Amino acid sequence: MALFRGLFDFFQSDSKLDEKLGLTEKQKRLVQNTWAMARKDEVAVGVAVVLAYFKKYPEAQKEFKSFKDVPLDELSKNKRFQAHCANIIVTLGNVIEQMHDPELMEASVINFTEKHKNRGQTQTQFENLKQIMLDSFPTLFGKHYTPEVQEAWKKTLDLIFSKMYQVLKD
Ligand code: HEM
Repeated sequence: MALFRGLFDFFQSDSKLDEKLGLTEKQKRLVQNTWAMARKDEVAVGVAVVLAYFKKYPEAQKEFKSFKDVPLDELSKNKRFQAHCANIIVTLGNVIEQMHDPELMEASVINFTEKHKNRGQTQTQFENLKQIMLDSFPTLFGKHYTPEVQEAWKKTLDLIFSKMYQVLKD
């Protein structure tokens, strides 16, 4: 009976909707668990995503003084490039880990977005990166990227990026 009650509570809290974020507890967990896989290899994962981004949107590379003119095939060795790639993975990871506290999560998004806003980065640049991320997840997460995980990620990125766009507009 106790086991049954435990399981019942588990599934109940799993499907509980966080009204502020529009995500269930299970969706939060799926996103956190898959991102933990990316965090294990944050430079390589970040480099793969940002390289795909610069390939499709070469003008985005021009935003980076320290490696704007480095040819694409030499970029992955460039430490300043690697540092920004890892920054993206780590920073998004911190935001994702803060999903239990929506106000804290929002504050973190504001912090890193304001820095980008001050440097002149645009909504389109972020929107393009978001799309590249969603496109690269099937390869990155492989069999772990089930339709349920995909749905959870789409909602999470919509949430984070829409906050970023709001900051860029204000
Ligand atoms: C969700 C996506 C992104 C995250 C989480 C992120 C995170 C960061 C972080 C943590 C830093 C270092 C602190 C700072 O100076 O702000 C940084 C630097 C920077 N980011 Fe991003 N970034 C993202 C996307 C972008 C995009 C799309 C662009 C432009 C195409 C961009 C351009 C820059 C530039 C130019 C710097 C300064 C690099 C330097 O000279 O050191 N970032 N980013």
